[in-house]
Amino acid sequence: MDTVLVTGSSTGLGLETALHLAGRGFRVFAGVRDLGHRPAVLEAAEERDVDLTVVQLDVTDSQSVDRAVETVVESGGGVYGLVNNAGIGLRGCFEDLQMAEIRDVFEANVFGAMAVTRRALPHMRAAGRGRIVTISSVGGRIATFGLSAYCSTKFAQEGFGESLDLEVRPFGLRSILIEPGIVKTSRWSVNRGNAAGALDPASPYHAMFVNHEALADRFVETRKTRPEHVAKAVHRALTSRRPRMRYVVGRPASAAVALRGLMPDRLFDWIYFGTLLRQIKNGSAAAPAAAPHGSEPGATVLAAPRPAASTAMTKATHDHIKSE
Ligand SMILES: NC(=O)c1ccc[n+]([C@@H]2O[C@H](COP(=O)([O-])OP(=O)(O)OC[C@H]3O[C@@H](n4cnc5c(N)ncnc54)[C@H](OP(=O)(O)O)[C@@H]3O)[C@@H](O)[C@H]2O)c1
Repeated sequence: MDTVLVTGSSTGLGLETALHLAGRGFRVFAGVRDLGHRPAVLEAAEERDVDLTVVQLDVTDSQSVDRAVETVVESGGGVYGLVNNAGIGLRGCFEDLQMAEIRDVFEANVFGAMAVTRRALPHMRAAGRGRIVTISSVGGRIATFGLSAYCSTKFAQEGFGESLDLEVRPFGLRSILIEPGIVKTSRWSVNRGNAAGALDPASPYHAMFVNHEALADRFVETRKTRPEHVAKAVHRALTSRRPRMRYVVGRPASAAVALRGLMPDRLFDWIYFGTLLRQIKNGSAAAPAAAPHGSEPGATVLAAPRPAASTAMTKATHDHIKSE
């Protein structure tokens, strides 16, 4: 039975991924920053009739990382899969962010993922097989308004994951990036991560930020992508004989990434970013049909009236993702 460590398993995508993998033949170690979450994770596992082991793991604490990986390797007989899922958000325009807030989000999302990977890699390399799966975001492919720091961390994860893949492939390992669009989790409520400065009405960005948050909230409620879709993508990344380097999760996210790849920059800018900025500036959050973009970027160019070409591309992309 292959062993997998999932970071940030107390809630959201990490919890669902841990449960999903445990139900599909993996020996799962669910990393939680605070062991107070242990009973709830075990209860969720019992409800799903699966077994997993909860380990304390704060990805920003090197001793905790050492202990957790050691536990997994000793009691799991090695580590085949590492799912770098733990992360925090930071919402607010760049000028409204404190450097300490920016450092914190980099510590968790970038250096945290690197720290756990660095600790697990020698074991995987020695075994000559294994997969490092990083939950990036479509925000690591297309940035958006009010998420300059968060998107920077996701772009950093993309560079890390891609480069790492080239380095570890010769040893029989793979590094794979999962890129979800908006999925309703605690990220959109208790773990939202609004910067204090962004909430200050005196900020010159405040009105736009508020409009953008309203757009984002509406998308969160209407997205059809669920945590289980992300968990399935992780499972595919861990089990596919010839995995891809990236898996985009969610139809709007897939369409946005495809459009960006195929359209000239200027056209994408006009259709995608242009529509978003008009919505934010005009404060038209109350007009759902015209909203182009959620705040996990790539949320949708689909909600807006759109050219036939983009509709066709959306369908093609969706069919492609479904058929993987
Ligand atoms: N939801 C979305 O729309 C979406 C879209 C694209 C990508 N993502 C990415 O998916 C991942 C999971 O997000 P989510 O939506 O499931 O968010 P979430 O519900 O807020 O879960 C985040 C998890 O990360 C953990 N965490 C935070 N800092 C940590 C640290 N220093 N050490 C260990 N664990 C830590 C949290 O633990 P605590 O409970 O202790 O805080 C929690 O378990 C993130 O990397 C996020 O960027 C999410």
